[in-house]
Amino acid sequence: MITTHIETLRYRRADDPVSTLATPSAPGLKDQHSRNINYLRISLTDVCNLRCVYCMPESMTFKPEPEMLQLDEFEALIKIFAKLGFNKFRYTGGEPTLFKALPTLIKNVQDAAPDALQALTTNGITLAHLATPLRDAGVQRVNISIDTLHPGRYRDITRWGRLQDALNGLEAAERAGLQVKINAVIVRGWNDQEDVIELAKLSQHKPWQIRFIELMPFGGGIHSFQQDRIVSEQELRDRISAALGPLELQNNGTLDGEARVFALHGAKGSLGFISSVTAPFCASCNRARLTADGKLRLCLLRPDEIDLRTPLRQGQSVTDMNSHIRKAIFRKPWGHGLDQDEFATDRAMSEIGG
Ligand code: GTP
Ligand code: 5AD
Ligand code: SF4
Repeated sequence: MITTHIETLRYRRADDPVSTLATPSAPGLKDQHSRNINYLRISLTDVCNLRCVYCMPESMTFKPEPEMLQLDEFEALIKIFAKLGFNKFRYTGGEPTLFKALPTLIKNVQDAAPDALQALTTNGITLAHLATPLRDAGVQRVNISIDTLHPGRYRDITRWGRLQDALNGLEAAERAGLQVKINAVIVRGWNDQEDVIELAKLSQHKPWQIRFIELMPFGGGIHSFQQDRIVSEQELRDRISAALGPLELQNNGTLDGEARVFALHGAKGSLGFISSVTAPFCASCNRARLTADGKLRLCLLRPDEIDLRTPLRQGQSVTDMNSHIRKAIFRKPWGHGLDQDEFATDRAMSEIGG
């Protein structure tokens, strides 16, 4: 039987251990809970060329340009984070490829921090022409959001996107030799049935990780919509194994980032489950976020932020900037409070970058 409503789904405490946790081995800054924070997710713009139903309202208004960090400001901040031991930078949005100077930014970060991993999370629409320049600039990995392989449903979910554009982007990324993962946010009533099976089948012939993401509730005017439509990892795993055979747990359950990884028997690729709601991975969190308006956000689902734009624009010294960042990272909260009905309503997902 398919569960149909939110009452059947339990928010899990963020400190409820659910699997073997990856030991963060990389450098970075320690927070008050002794986690190594070495991964910075950078939202380059809150603007997007799509309007996914679970992400933003159709009439979304974006922040005024002067509030947004400029190329040189992003560069300056990323270099500071690199010096502090951050070694993974993922550009998100909105849609990060709409940030015009993206290849330049990546090239300059590559020159300044050649050992750092630079990655992108994108809807793929612009990758047909950008995959190669981005690879040449220094991008190594792309996570492409494709919630369904059905063109009509893709259009409905994104409100006006063309699936073929995203697939062309995916193909271009593969041709460019970028390591590819596919992100599918699963929304009850939209793409939780045959779409899940079709996406899972992709892993049989392609060396990609197809990731099924539990919908997270956020602010931005669509909160109740999101809460009613969460589908749990367990429900998805049951559905996929009923259709395609048993799922084999990979890496003894050690998380790959936030994804618990399985594979279909004999498959070239794998299936990842990102279950922020029913199996939080806060205990192994290694990330902080820089928003497009220059705030350092310490947890995706909590409103704690510090302003880096003002001291940067005031021309404060690198030593002072280091000290602001160190203090903020130390204060990083333990985890989210979804199980206590605490939701981050201060910003929409598109402003934080996922
Ligand atoms: P990898 O480097 O490939 O592991 O990428 P990633 O999973 O870190 O990044 P991606 O942008 O592909 O994120 C996939 C999903 O994980 C998105 O839905 C994000 O919102 C979600 N996610 C990323 N970071 C966090 C986090 O700190 N907390 C929670 N709850 N979800 C997160
Ligand atoms: N819950 C979970 N994931 C979301 N994303 C956007 N909104 C949500 C949400 N409410 C995903 C995007 C993209 C990544 C950055 O975050 O689909 O894959
Ligand atoms: Fe754009 Fe991503 Fe939000 Fe969809 S989920 S509207 S692609 S930022």
